This record gives sequence, structure tokens and C-alpha cells, in this order.
Amino acid sequence: MDDLREKYLARIAEAADEAALEELRLAAVGKKGEVSLQMRELGKMSAEERQVAGPKLNALKDEINAALAAKKAALEEAALDARLQTEWLDVTLPARDRPRGTIHPVSQVTEEVTAILADMGFAVAEGPQIESDWYNFDALNIPDHHPARTEMDTFYMARADGDNRPPHVLRTHTSPVQIRSMMENGAPIRIICPGRVYRADYDQTHTPMFHQVEGLAIDKDISMANLKWVLEEFFSAFFGTAVKTRFRASHFPFTEPSAEVDIQCSFEGGQVKVGEGDGWLEVLGSGMVHPKVLQAGGIDPAEWQGFAFGMGIDRMAMLKYGIPDLRAFFDSDLRWLRHYGFSALQVPTLHGGL
Ligand code: PHE
Repeated sequence: MDDLREKYLARIAEAADEAALEELRLAAVGKKGEVSLQMRELGKMSAEERQVAGPKLNALKDEINAALAAKKAALEEAALDARLQTEWLDVTLPARDRPRGTIHPVSQVTEEVTAILADMGFAVAEGPQIESDWYNFDALNIPDHHPARTEMDTFYMARADGDNRPPHVLRTHTSPVQIRSMMENGAPIRIICPGRVYRADYDQTHTPMFHQVEGLAIDKDISMANLKWVLEEFFSAFFGTAVKTRFRASHFPFTEPSAEVDIQCSFEGGQVKVGEGDGWLEVLGSGMVHPKVLQAGGIDPAEWQGFAFGMGIDRMAMLKYGIPDLRAFFDSDLRWLRHYGFSALQVPTLHGGL
């Protein structure tokens, strides 16, 4: 019995895994195990012998079973430890880099423009991209048959058969938001309106959908001088360098007087550099809001006056970030987007730098 005991306790202690342990269990206390066979021998013994051997064998069986159970628990714990080792995760490691989208230059520049002009006290206003011809044309002093209607290469929406009302248009500029803003809030006004506009046009610097930002300031004593200051401040903040402007007399039906505004730049070596040299690049249309436009917006021109401007956002993005072809803006080519796109975490702010 002592031999059996020593043998099995030693082997159990050495068992490498649960399968080995099961084999030992069968060999010792299984039906045909060595301890079980010994127990069968009890029947052949005398009563006295049995009284001594019986409890001893039972104690041995218990001891072996206990050793098996303890070893089994130890093996399970070791297995769990090993698994925890292999599946260990360092949650403090930085996350794996994965492909991300980028902020489109148009979105980035819209945010930049908005940040600068908002800092000057302009609120952001919006209007629909599908406009009635009244907001897009009539209210802006562009009556029916006015050449500006055809010059703008307007996209017209379809009307149902037999519906003879004038068709809606895809807005050709952000100027209709001037009217909406006047009608909604009245004077005084200080708004900008960034958004999509549409014209049937397609070449290196024109796409049928593009972006403008409208500016409108109406008050009792606003003049062209305020317009010039706002624009010069704006360009210098936007390009991060002092930029000279040139106002050229022009004509828009909705402003009087009207001016097209050029910014100073050099074209040396086939590269456009804003704020240098003695070349000029046209970037926006502007002027003093026409009395008829104020009237259409429900504002008394005898009491109020102000300036308006409309600027191409895509054009500004091309100039600031050296993007040569406007059409590529809207091709959704991932290589282009990765190259010209901006990090989503680099939100344009004045304090953070534009
Ligand atoms: N709406 C004009 C355009 O799209 C720009 C403009 C806006 C001009 C406001 C003057 C005043 O060409």
C-alpha cells in the first residue's frame, strides 16, 4: 500500500496535463485500477485483516482522489495563466493607424473664410440651392430678358406638363440669400453665405457646380470704404501676408456702383504667388447694394445702405494651396483627396492659425 501510495502521489505530482492525470486516475482508482483491485482482495481476507486493511485502502483511495483533484485544479490554473499570458493586451499602446478620410480643400477653405469673417462680426446665413427665378434674378434687379440671365448659363428645373409658371433654377450665385436675409431679419444686416452654386460651364477653371461666399453688410452709413477695408483685412488674414487689392469699375445689376476686385500676385516661373509682384488676379465681384434690391428685400433705401460681395471659394482654394485644375476637385480621386486633403483634427481657427 505504501508503494502504491508513493508511486501514484509522485506520478500525479509530475503529470504534465489533464490527459496524463486521467490515465493515472484510471490506473489507480479506475474500475481496474491497482487500488480498486486491492479493494477486491478485501473479500478474501479474514475479518481482522479486513478491519485493518479496509480503512487503510479507503484512506489511500481518498488520498489519491484528493491529489488528483488538487493537481487538476493546479493544471487548470496554470493553463489559464498561460492563456492570459498569450492573450495579454497592452491597452496603453497607441491604436493602429488606419486609412482615414480627409477634409476636402473646399470644406477647409469654407471654414477658413468663415472663421475670418465671423471674427469681423459676420453671421453665417444659408439658402436653398434650388431657387425660384424671383430670388435668383428678379429680386436682384435682373428682370426677364435681361442679358445676365443667359450669360449665367442657368440650369432650369423642369415643370410638369401644362404648368406654365416660370421654372425654378439651380441658383447661379449666392446672392439670392441677400434677399432671403433681408426679408427674414430686416436691417441692419451683417452676414456671409457660403454655399454651392451652379452654371453650365466646364473647363480648367470652371465646373458646373462650384462654391461661392456672399457677404452683405447693411446699416445707416456703410460705404465702399468699409468694403475695401473688410476685403483687404480678409485677404491678408486668409493668405497670411499683406495683400494689395485693386478695385476695377464694373457692372452688376444688383449693385451700384459695382467693382470687380483683383488681388496682387506674381506669375513668375509659371507659379502664382499671392501678395507678391505686380500682377493682378480677379477674385470677386462687389459693390453697393442697389436701391431696388433693398426694396425687393423690404428694406427702405432712403434709410439704409450697404455693400455686398461674392467670391469664388474654389478659386481661393486653388490660389492658396496651389491646385492647378478645378475639375479635379470633384473627381473623387482618392490620390488627389489624400494629397490635397486636410487632417480632420486641424480645424481652422484664428488662434490656431489658418
Ligand atoms: N453674384 C455675383 C456673381 O456671382 C457676384 C457679386 C455678389 C457681385 C455681390 C456683386 C455683389 O458673379
